[in-house]
Amino acid sequence: MGTCVPYIDYSLIPGGIKKEILLEVSRVISLRNSGEHEQYVASVTQLLAQYFQTKFGVAVDSGTTALQLSLSALGVKAGDEVIIPTYTYVATALAVTNLGAKPVFADIKFNDLTIDPDCIESLITSRTKVVIPVHIHGLCCDIKKIQKICMKHKIALVEDASQAHGALIHGKKAGSFGIGCFSLHTSKNLGGIGDAGFIALNDKDLCRKIEQFLTPESPTQTALEGRRTPCTMDAIQAAIIQKKLAILDMVNDQKREIASRYDTFIVSGTIKKAVPMKDSRPVYRDYFILAKNRDALRDRLLKQGIETKPGYVPLHLSKPFDRFYGHRQKLPVSETIAGQVLLLPSFFGLSDGQLKRVCAVLRGIKNA
Ligand SMILES: Cc1ncc(COP(=O)(O)O)c(C=O)c1O
Repeated sequence: MGTCVPYIDYSLIPGGIKKEILLEVSRVISLRNSGEHEQYVASVTQLLAQYFQTKFGVAVDSGTTALQLSLSALGVKAGDEVIIPTYTYVATALAVTNLGAKPVFADIKFNDLTIDPDCIESLITSRTKVVIPVHIHGLCCDIKKIQKICMKHKIALVEDASQAHGALIHGKKAGSFGIGCFSLHTSKNLGGIGDAGFIALNDKDLCRKIEQFLTPESPTQTALEGRRTPCTMDAIQAAIIQKKLAILDMVNDQKREIASRYDTFIVSGTIKKAVPMKDSRPVYRDYFILAKNRDALRDRLLKQGIETKPGYVPLHLSKPFDRFYGHRQKLPVSETIAGQVLLLPSFFGLSDGQLKRVCAVLRGIKNA
């Protein structure tokens, strides 16, 4: 049987917006010099910072760059430690290891798979420079509790909000509590066509420092410090993202609607669903379930034409990180859910029929 329900479909951008994107891209193509390009990117930067509720922003070429430049600007270097959840996309850790620093893995909460604040303090050492909570799958971390811990220990807070554009925590946007790092890859609720990223922040000096990595004030400074990293967001991506920003709230509303439909349809004692943090408004970049026999369930869904994706392998259990950074740690919640997380189709544009089909097939699978 052919695929009836794909896991993702990037092409489902509303027709009107597609036209507007093409017009905006052709405007960019007509810009006359790099100064005009820079101005264009600067105005998109302002729009994004406004949306994410921060005073400043830096538009870059990926989420990994956003994280790495933020860490660099905070002075993270070889020998330093950065606390991150073990359950995350690998890029969160790579931004740390790329700088020669060491990722220290924290366990997660069972209800939403985000970092467990109660596991953070015992991991803090004199080398800890930063904590990076991740709003994973579009669900929100207990950011206020984490913020308090960071303030108490004078550690910087960098939020990996790559999967949480527009999510709200106690009425405030995810990414606005610490230094907010966003991937704007096509696969995200807000994304260009290909790679892009954004740093949302309120600290003017830090913002300036990050901008200096991208465009140093003078060639001498570049030569002396050897720090230039030309990874600013390009104007074409900025044009696409600007247009897609206008529909982000609609995209998020639809993702929440899909999640709530799945939540009501899926009634199986053996399948577990996420319970988002109180007073948060998630954006469900992915809709996940936990199933003990995940891989068998995945195969059976595929046989019925439904594509799904497995969740992440907790990093402390993955070979490269275990070999280089493993602490023979026991992180019980991550180890319990490892191999159980299954991401269901929940892309923008998923039709009612497709959603009903996934639910019907799941219901039909006994002991799912
Ligand atoms: C949680 C998380 N962090 C970081 C990144 C890295 O972003 P990018 O792929 O844009 O470098 C991603 C992207 O998938 C992500 O999901």
